[in-house]
Amino acid sequence: MALKSHTCGELGLDDVGEEVTLAGWVHRRRDHGGLIFVDLRDRWGITQVVFNPDTVAEAHATAGTLRLEYVVTVAGVVRERPAGLENPGLATGEIEVVAQEIEILNTAKTPPFYINDDSPVDEALRLRYRYLDLRRQRMQRNLILRHKVVKFIRDSLSDEGFLEIETPILFKSTPEGARDYLVPSRLHPGSFYALPQSPQQLKQLLMVAGYERYFQIARCFRDEDQRGDRQPEFTQLDLEMSFVDRDDVLDVVERLYTGIVEQLTEKKLLFKPFQRLSYDAAMSRFGTDRPDLRFGLELQDISDIAAACDFRVFSETAASGGLIKGLKVPGCATYSRKQIDELTTLVKEFGARGLAWLGLGNNGEVRSSFAKFLTEDQVQAIVTRLDGAPGDLLLFVADQPAVTNEALSRLRLSLGDQMGLRDADVLALCWIIDFPFVIWNEEEKRWDPSHHLFTAPMDEDIPLLDTAPGKARGKQYDLVCNGYEIAGGSIRIHQREIQEKVFDLIGLTVEEASQQFGHMLEAFEYGTPPHGGIAPGIDRFVMLLAGEPNIREVIAFPKSQSAADLMAGAPSPVSPVQLRELHLKLDR
Ligand code: AMO
Ligand code: AMP
Repeated sequence: MALKSHTCGELGLDDVGEEVTLAGWVHRRRDHGGLIFVDLRDRWGITQVVFNPDTVAEAHATAGTLRLEYVVTVAGVVRERPAGLENPGLATGEIEVVAQEIEILNTAKTPPFYINDDSPVDEALRLRYRYLDLRRQRMQRNLILRHKVVKFIRDSLSDEGFLEIETPILFKSTPEGARDYLVPSRLHPGSFYALPQSPQQLKQLLMVAGYERYFQIARCFRDEDQRGDRQPEFTQLDLEMSFVDRDDVLDVVERLYTGIVEQLTEKKLLFKPFQRLSYDAAMSRFGTDRPDLRFGLELQDISDIAAACDFRVFSETAASGGLIKGLKVPGCATYSRKQIDELTTLVKEFGARGLAWLGLGNNGEVRSSFAKFLTEDQVQAIVTRLDGAPGDLLLFVADQPAVTNEALSRLRLSLGDQMGLRDADVLALCWIIDFPFVIWNEEEKRWDPSHHLFTAPMDEDIPLLDTAPGKARGKQYDLVCNGYEIAGGSIRIHQREIQEKVFDLIGLTVEEASQQFGHMLEAFEYGTPPHGGIAPGIDRFVMLLAGEPNIREVIAFPKSQSAADLMAGAPSPVSPVQLRELHLKLDR
């Protein structure tokens, strides 16, 4: 018999009476003494199959030997389920297939976890048996969503005149700020390819080549510490355009992402058009350049008031160039010491030395860890600055600016979680613009590009590169959603003189620059159009669309936290012969 005439997800009342053949996996089996019911599963759904001992004794006997995850093909006739036995939770719940014949195509060992429910399973076990994990509904749903997102991207951008062009995986180190994965060359002893951290240089060269609108669903490789939103290899929608300015690039992405959210999901876009915030405003109001804008709890700077008070934690911090900021937690003035201690532990994890607090009682009384060191006017000034009202709890961190901002932004997220303010059905998409062009690297005593080497400075800030580089802004932008950076890009430098100036600023000598980027500098001399682009991280966006807590849930075969493939056992040692061919010697 043919192995499969229909899928397990498509039969309904219209098909009653039809002879069909289904094939898939045994999802569940219920043996009612007489009748045996088998839920048969394939990629499209689940269909109930019934085996009756009185009419098909042989098939019924075979059905009696089935175990979970056996692979079978079943021929039978579609019939309406008897009244009262319909299953509204199942797309095929109004019918069942009365089996006539069954063939076991393959048996299966008992899986190490249940495939037929989505109950939590240790992640190491899931990754070790990823092919079984991928059979489960949650992973299937996520990978189907991911496919739809990528297809939507390909269709929309093609309609807008973009060309999808592949670029090499074996290439030369591209500086995106992470460590490279290197591939030793057999034919060129002692030389290495680098796996691309992104196709940055190549997409710019495609602009020099005149393609004007390019995109790629590009795999990128970065050897950096893993987190929930980072993988050593991940996927970007890489995109580049010629003859554009910032808003042209933002418009393309905004149109695309609005379409994805509205056409593929039930999620609600909080901002239409997307919110825009300057880097400075984001840092000042939220302490981070990737704020979660689904809720308030904004930070307020009280450094000026703090500088003048007798609480040494505040005044000494202010005197040493520090930053004192606070946030208001409405209605939480009665938090216990234990609750405040927990918040203190949290900010200490992010480097803060403590958490100062002030609770506003309902009758004007104040409970506080520091108010006794302040005058009444100073307390009042702080309360006013934070717009405090009876019942509110005010929390403060005093430290160097980076620590204060980091600690309070983490505290803000954690309070947002505790107070149920981070609704997973809402997507708050926001462009962050006007970034500083360079950031001071204290360890190496030099300027680092805040995006990457090829980002253009704002035209009006070019003179600042010679006088006050820290004050110059770059033509770069990030897209942020619910506290995650989901895209980054910029308008590029397209003139050799400015590119060389930037190399110089970040401390690359002419020789180093020409050794690493000679091909770019050379290309820029052959008629380079003004151009710019962006790279949205696909894993992170799909994670948010799927409502998942980390990107491993939307990647078929992700690496573990320690960058290992637990299924295949990669990375793994290689044979001495392979090493010899690559001219490599291990030092242990
Ligand atoms: P950037 O380095 O900002 O820019 O990366 C763009 C986006 O890629 C995603 N991303 C990651 N996702 C998962 N795991 C990782 N390890 C990881 N690293 C980055 C983020 C990020 O916003 N060439 C530039 C783009 C450009 O200028 O056009 C670039 O790669 O969502
Ligand atoms: P102490 O003087 O160490 O007893 O601290 C008094 C209060 O200030 C306590 O609530 C501490 O948690 C808090 N505190 C200490 N250091 C800081 C800091 N750097 N920023 C904010 N609060 C702090």
